[in-house]
Amino acid sequence: MLNKDVMVVAIDGPSASGKSTVSREVALKLKFTYVDSGSLYRGMTWKCIREGVDVKMPEFVIDLMNRMKLEFFAENRVVRFTIDGEDPGQQLRSEPVRECVSDIAAIPEVRHFMVNKLRQMVQFGAIVMEGRDIGSVVFPDSPFKFYLDADPEERARRRHAELIEMEGQGDVEKVLDSLKRRDQKDTTRKTAPLQIPLGAHVINSTSMSIEEVVSLIVKEVSAAGG
Ligand code: DC
Repeated sequence: MLNKDVMVVAIDGPSASGKSTVSREVALKLKFTYVDSGSLYRGMTWKCIREGVDVKMPEFVIDLMNRMKLEFFAENRVVRFTIDGEDPGQQLRSEPVRECVSDIAAIPEVRHFMVNKLRQMVQFGAIVMEGRDIGSVVFPDSPFKFYLDADPEERARRRHAELIEMEGQGDVEKVLDSLKRRDQKDTTRKTAPLQIPLGAHVINSTSMSIEEVVSLIVKEVSAAGG
């Protein structure tokens, strides 16, 4: 399953566990290409909303998925994509997408489609890929698997700070509530639920800085010849 010539660093964990920042930094330090797998599920969600497709109607979602043209490219060692020629950009982070993406990510056919696309990312060379099932499903043979976690309150605090920066407002209680709902959906869905991949190094970052987590991962990958 894993192309033996290409190194894949798999970083999984729940929402707001610090995965994105850590994964980007690790990729930068190792000079690997960064892939945010969640952006594919968000992209599919964005497309459904744009086309007026109800995310709770899997048959319509699947039909749209099979008709749309998804194209990938790497820019400054970050993988991005267009759907039917359009770059969703920051709209991937919008509230409607945030609220509907778990429904999309729970559809087995969508997961199957996205897992295939994610495996093709080795076309961009050595990669750092973050997500929920990277070490367990997408690249289970990778020797570099990490599972980042942090207490829900700390994760809510981090996500709240991000929202304030992006949108100028946010309610920390609401964020905590939404995170817990998302955790619940992600860990209990039937297909590829969020779990600690076999053999993954679990890092609880509640009282660690980003730099400490990044350096731990970079050291481990470098020590193994990455
Ligand atoms: O990491 P994120 O918040 O961008 O993820 C968005 C959604 O996609 C979230 O509900 C979890 C889901 N997801 C997934 O099921 N599998 C992945 N590999 C990545 C994300």
